[in-house]
Amino acid sequence: MSTKIAILPGDGIGPEIINEAVKVLECLQQDYALDVELDTAAIGGAAYDESGSPLPETTLNLCKSADAILLGAVGGPQYESLERELRPEKGLLGLRSELELFSNLRPAILYPQLANASSLKPEIVSGLDIMIVRELTGGIYFGQPRGIRTLDNGEQEGYNTLVYAEHEIERIAHSAFNVAMKRGKKVCSVDKANVLEVSELWREVMIRVSKEYPEVELSHMYVDNASMQLVKWPKQFDVMVTKNMFGDILSDTAAMLTGSIGMLPSASLDKNGKGMYEPIHGSAPDIAGTKKANPLATILSVSMMLRYSLNQAELADRIEKAVSDVLDQGMRTEDIADGGSYVSTQEMGDAVVKALKA
Ligand code: IPM
Ligand code: MG
Repeated sequence: MSTKIAILPGDGIGPEIINEAVKVLECLQQDYALDVELDTAAIGGAAYDESGSPLPETTLNLCKSADAILLGAVGGPQYESLERELRPEKGLLGLRSELELFSNLRPAILYPQLANASSLKPEIVSGLDIMIVRELTGGIYFGQPRGIRTLDNGEQEGYNTLVYAEHEIERIAHSAFNVAMKRGKKVCSVDKANVLEVSELWREVMIRVSKEYPEVELSHMYVDNASMQLVKWPKQFDVMVTKNMFGDILSDTAAMLTGSIGMLPSASLDKNGKGMYEPIHGSAPDIAGTKKANPLATILSVSMMLRYSLNQAELADRIEKAVSDVLDQGMRTEDIADGGSYVSTQEMGDAVVKALKA
């Protein structure tokens, strides 16, 4: 039986970059006998426009029955005035939580060809290879109660709840330590234990779980310091593990160290390794339709999918090699062109497919 992949293009540049990633998958089908079935469904604003819901039942069911999911991006200014439940982001958050994709792996790797695209000095970022493990289905993103209420004096008050149960911390700790075992065997747990009780428990559980991984060195860092260290000397980090919201923020910083957020993929995994794969960047409505979007983060998301969900490490290596080859050839989309000439989204996708075939 072939492996079923749900394809969710989403909004903004989502459909454009997904097109290129699908070309890569089709090339693997044709030239490398990859046995996959691709089924497309709507999510986010596109789904809302079609059916009135950012996560329609049909999309959710397809994703539940699929072995892996490839997502473009969601969101756009035209949806910002909708009530929260109907916004595109709710589609993405709903999928993460319905499928219990609690472990979000966000690599920040600097391609040597792009050392000049980083805003930091080359000696600070060259050879950079960090993995951020972000907890994705808990914390302040999902905690109850939440809302905006009116106080007795008529003033409005917004409130959210930051909450983590022990089992949620334990499972993300195991994810991080397992990832570290396959890499540099160092985990830095990022928290705010000097202020938050949740972080106190987080730290306690991290220390407890670390005992099961004696080879891994565990350290702790407050989130404000971590954000500073990321731009000061990022190479001190191997794996960073952190809560949902801290991970959201730090992963954007880490991504930018590599020159462009347009280069970085991510994986969101459940306890069985089933996963959703998506670029770290958003839907970039400002460049949608201009052919400027960089499809490499989405193409590299396919590679992560092959590695983490489809057990096809060799094909994953091939994709990564093809991406590296096109960078060697000097192909650049605008975001990584450093002011020089650049190619279109489609030209970049075609170049990767050509390199894969070669
Ligand atoms: C991300 C995004 C999402 C998040 C948004 C689109 C809901 O910023 O995947 O990092 O905050 O998790
Ligand atoms: Mg984010």
